[in-house]
Amino acid sequence: MQSFNGQTVVVAGATGNVGPFVVRALLERGASVAAPSRSEEKIRGLREHLSQHLDETGSGRLHTLVGDLSDEREAAVVRQRISEEAGTPAAVRSPEQLWDVALRDAVAREGHMPSG
Ligand SMILES: NC(=O)c1ccc[n+]([C@@H]2O[C@H](COP(=O)([O-])OP(=O)(O)OC[C@H]3O[C@@H](n4cnc5c(N)ncnc54)[C@H](OP(=O)(O)O)[C@@H]3O)[C@@H](O)[C@H]2O)c1
Repeated sequence: MQSFNGQTVVVAGATGNVGPFVVRALLERGASVAAPSRSEEKIRGLREHLSQHLDETGSGRLHTLVGDLSDEREAAVVRQRISEEAGTPAAVRSPEQLWDVALRDAVAREGHMPSG
């Protein structure tokens, strides 16, 4: 199993359909995850989803930030906050780039494809 111990990974799209599974897989592998979103409400939803599956150690490595990455100024603020709060990112990933990892985990755990 690939370890992300001590690495900071930014997941763009963490609050979408696929993102929460990717974030969970990364946190379970020891990563610190920075998850930007335009919506406080979606961030609450992400945290709620993860709280059902992770202990405090895992959840403690999740850093959520509100900001629109398509806006240059907001993206610069998000970037700065990520470095300050989560550390210099080892990688920036969109969900589809790590979907295979999350999917393998879910199938191994539950015996079928994940839903909601
Ligand atoms: N759904 C699937 O079954 C599936 C399977 C394999 C691969 N994929 C691929 O995975 C990717 C994500 O799919 P999805 O279904 O999870 O998408 P989705 O539910 O539409 O989610 C889109 C994500 O992108 C974020 N986002 C969009 N614009 C943003 C911006 N300007 N600033 C910050 N965040 C922004 C959204 O965050 P906020 O709205 O919170 O800001 C949300 O977290 C796509 O490329 C898709 O093709 C999807």
